Amino acid sequence: MDTLRWQEDHLLLLDQTKLPLVEEYIECWDHHVLGEAIKKLRVRGAPAIGAAAAFGVALAALNYQGEDPQELEAEIKQAVDDLAKTRPTAVNLFWALKRMQAKAEAHRGATVEDLKHILLEEAKTISEEDRAMNERMGQFGVELIPEGAGILTHCNAGALATAGFGTALGVIRAAHHAGKEVSVFADETRPLLQGARLTAWELMQDGIPVTLITDSMAAYVMKQNLVDLVIVGADRITANGDVANKIGTYGVALAAKAHGIPFYVAAPVSTFDLSLKTGAEIPIEERDPEEVRGFGDAVTAPPGVHVYNPAFDVTPAELVTAFITDRGIFRPPYGETLQGLLKEE
Ligand code: MRU
Repeated sequence: MDTLRWQEDHLLLLDQTKLPLVEEYIECWDHHVLGEAIKKLRVRGAPAIGAAAAFGVALAALNYQGEDPQELEAEIKQAVDDLAKTRPTAVNLFWALKRMQAKAEAHRGATVEDLKHILLEEAKTISEEDRAMNERMGQFGVELIPEGAGILTHCNAGALATAGFGTALGVIRAAHHAGKEVSVFADETRPLLQGARLTAWELMQDGIPVTLITDSMAAYVMKQNLVDLVIVGADRITANGDVANKIGTYGVALAAKAHGIPFYVAAPVSTFDLSLKTGAEIPIEERDPEEVRGFGDAVTAPPGVHVYNPAFDVTPAELVTAFITDRGIFRPPYGETLQGLLKEE
């Protein structure tokens, strides 16, 4: 199933809040609906948010009815500003919005019709490149996966979190395709259960052996020697190698360190924010307390109890064994090695 798909004149998004029980696409005809879908996690995962937002900018352009290119540019700027307010942590969102805006600016002087076409093509390219980057990452990462490995992952960094194939799950998929008999422990990932609802579903669809555990079981499973390595995705990686990812990742990294288990982070270049020195500068999203007080219609805490609900945490660089990227594998000292990552650009 595609996470997102352009259909002639609108975007289809697989509604991830309904998975795994209902496989339903929502239609996005304008960037406001798309922005709401990002906020509500109907589409989620750093690269997928970026790709979806790019289509949001294209939709804003396509919906412009006038013939004045300057007015169109103002519409595009407004859409970029609106979409930038949806979620703060994943840098892929801002990376994609900047890329769309730069494309529009580079074609200042083009007709309205041409600009609409150019922006839609750019959004499609962002999506296609994301999938290709993930496949490359898989090829690089496969060498790190021993035959028969038990792999623990947190949240969902799969096809659902990207334009296709996945980052952390992309590496696992590549190992599976290469004939390595890997099996996965998926943390359920409280409070929104991306691991239970999405990772378990995705891996089962592909026939990759998966065992679902609650977040609090991860350290015990490591202690029992069932985990050979951990692979997670990322929402933002800073110049020193600190990693923002789904809340709970930091605890998994600490447990991995305590048990001498390698901890890998798989991410495309669009997830690296080398403009920030350390993870302390990353804006961490705080979400609705109701997400912790219950799930769906089930109430699991006293109504009104005080809640703290950060959606992400920051894993310090010293806990990361290596980064698996679409440009190769990067090892410490990250302050030096990551500088080479974006050289090609
Ligand atoms: O809140 P979410 O579901 O958007 O959080 C997603 C994650 O934290 C993923 O691990 C991350 O975006 C990497 S996805 C390839």
